[in-house]
Amino acid sequence: MAFRAAIRKSTLLRGFTSRAVDGFPGAVGNTPLILLKGLSEKTGSKIYGKAEFQNPGGSVKDRAALGVIEDAEASGRLKPGGTVVEDTAGNTGIGLAHVCRAKGYRCVIYMPNTQSQEKIDLLRMLGADVRPVPAVAYEHPANYNHQARDYAATLANAVWTDQFDNTANARAHYASTGPEIWAQREGAVDGFVCATGTGGTLAGVGRYLKEASDGRAQVWLADPPGSVLYSYIESGGKLKERRGVGSITEGIGQGRITDNLGTFVDAVDGALHIADTKSVAMVYDLLDTEGLYLGASSALNVVAAYELALKLGPGKSIVTILCDGAYRYQSRLFSKTWLREKGLEDAIPEHLKKYAVLD
Ligand SMILES: Cc1ncc(COP(=O)(O)O)c(C=O)c1O
Repeated sequence: MAFRAAIRKSTLLRGFTSRAVDGFPGAVGNTPLILLKGLSEKTGSKIYGKAEFQNPGGSVKDRAALGVIEDAEASGRLKPGGTVVEDTAGNTGIGLAHVCRAKGYRCVIYMPNTQSQEKIDLLRMLGADVRPVPAVAYEHPANYNHQARDYAATLANAVWTDQFDNTANARAHYASTGPEIWAQREGAVDGFVCATGTGGTLAGVGRYLKEASDGRAQVWLADPPGSVLYSYIESGGKLKERRGVGSITEGIGQGRITDNLGTFVDAVDGALHIADTKSVAMVYDLLDTEGLYLGASSALNVVAAYELALKLGPGKSIVTILCDGAYRYQSRLFSKTWLREKGLEDAIPEHLKKYAVLD
């Protein structure tokens, strides 16, 4: 209990507090927990979204980025003036780039050269050395993951932060996101559900909530089409089949059990497969009913929280993660042409189509 009290105390000095915090790293975490009124009324349970889009770099991945860097510092692998190397096309790179500027490290990001110019430009604006490399399979030595690892190994005072298999990622959520949710609900959490990319969020939050609730809180995994995790969990760890082909969601879905997910996967209570039609409709619904402008992985999480609430029955408290805002995806999610191309136009109810304002 002393350990939990210490974690709780440390989280109160970060993120959104009534006191000043220390730089960008100090502003990470302690995000609001938002009651989603519409879905709560519909289900007779309380559904909450953890507002991770309010982190200073704009996503849940600020926590993982800070966690892997602080871990490298604590172990002596990263010293002042050092270099941080990662393979990422998404939010982790943004979080790392911010933290590196704030702490004076060089940041090198490898990504497949199929990524959008906006993503490359954003990371460069944040001071990262971006290296787009040919998009080849993981088995190929020139794959961007291997190039990042190999480049870091050539430098003195450099770390490959390895977000998928470096369990400092899940530990960051165990030490911050989990205790925050528990404190914000004063222990009233019956269910937690979220999708996974690295698995850091689900594993870290899930483990904390299981321990804090003496096993009472149910922890479920939400999976987009094209991922193997739904079939892995529903078959008790035997099958590893992709369910569906690909998804419009970004940052989530997996083809393997990463080391981060591996720290908790055996304790997951169940999995939900969420179709893109439902996720996209929820992007629009959250905007219309809650005034929340969120990306598709957040919307998928909210659909999963709604479905978990229906499974567990009324009178429960269900928590999920609002990973990032729609700003990074708006040219697709709110474009009539893109929706038509993806066959998602009819997923949006007639009364919400007015939000698709881009051609
Ligand atoms: C938008 C978004 N949602 C969800 C996730 C998944 O989080 P985790 O890697 O902790 O599983 C990510 C990860 O990159 C992400 O970018």
